Amino acid sequence: MTDKYAVIGHPISHSKSPLIHKMFAEQTGQDMSYEAIESPLDGFAATIQRLRDTGYKGCNITVPFKHEAYKLAHEHSGRARAAHAVNTFIFQDGIILGDNTDGIGLVTDIEQNLACKFLFKRVLLMGAGGAAHGVIWHLFNAGAAIIIANRNMDKAEQLAAEFEGYGTVFAKSYAALAGQQFDIVINATSSGLTDSLPPLPDGLFKPGALAYDMMYGKETPFLRFAREQGAAQLADGLGMLVEQAAVAFQKWRGVNPDTAPVIAQLRT
Ligand code: ATR
Repeated sequence: MTDKYAVIGHPISHSKSPLIHKMFAEQTGQDMSYEAIESPLDGFAATIQRLRDTGYKGCNITVPFKHEAYKLAHEHSGRARAAHAVNTFIFQDGIILGDNTDGIGLVTDIEQNLACKFLFKRVLLMGAGGAAHGVIWHLFNAGAAIIIANRNMDKAEQLAAEFEGYGTVFAKSYAALAGQQFDIVINATSSGLTDSLPPLPDGLFKPGALAYDMMYGKETPFLRFAREQGAAQLADGLGMLVEQAAVAFQKWRGVNPDTAPVIAQLRT
């Protein structure tokens, strides 16, 4: 029998996850289906219960349900705990296992696909919301020193305090970045959604620096700014999307899909 999986979000019609998992399944010969399901905003738990009752093996969870998914899971992986959010459920033996593959997806995309290592690098992480929280633990694990910049300084300081024990981390206002330079600048704000640019000073990019926007689709104001400021390498979040999907796929199916042809296909 074909094993069933899905991605749950609101809205969800734009999701590329069904296409990505379809390509992974074809490539690895896995007998599975994967569909996009829109959950009512006040009906996430009921949606998940319906999936479990009808024999689904697992699902991905996207905006705005990742925190609710964290609360609903019976057990959590260490990286889901660090993120306080879950993007992957595994339904197993009557319980819900909650994992989070966003951070490892980002690090894999940057280190492997873009050949840019984090070890000993100075990283600027813009944003202190769910997207930043979801990946920061992995940036420390990869060996980066991190500056968190956010408009709301309380949120930046809170996030920095939470991860103080993991490595070098400072919270700064955007204005306080003037005169500083970074090897890797990651936009984990939602500024791209409103076509706006965080108030970044000039001269942030070291020679050879990478500018990475976790959003994908069109060139965001941040990537345009980075290009104009001479950042050596620019990347959107499409690779992260495919890499986080690959880790979820591996957890469900026990096989590693090849991500490169899938990323290439989605780019066309
Ligand atoms: P997400 O889950 O996408 O991180 P969120 O938790 O609502 O969503 O957080 C949004 C983040 O984007 C916040 O860090 C927010 O900054 P503030 O906390 O200062 O509001 C940031 N953000 C959104 N629009 C922005 C903009 N135009 N410039 C800079 N930061 C922005």
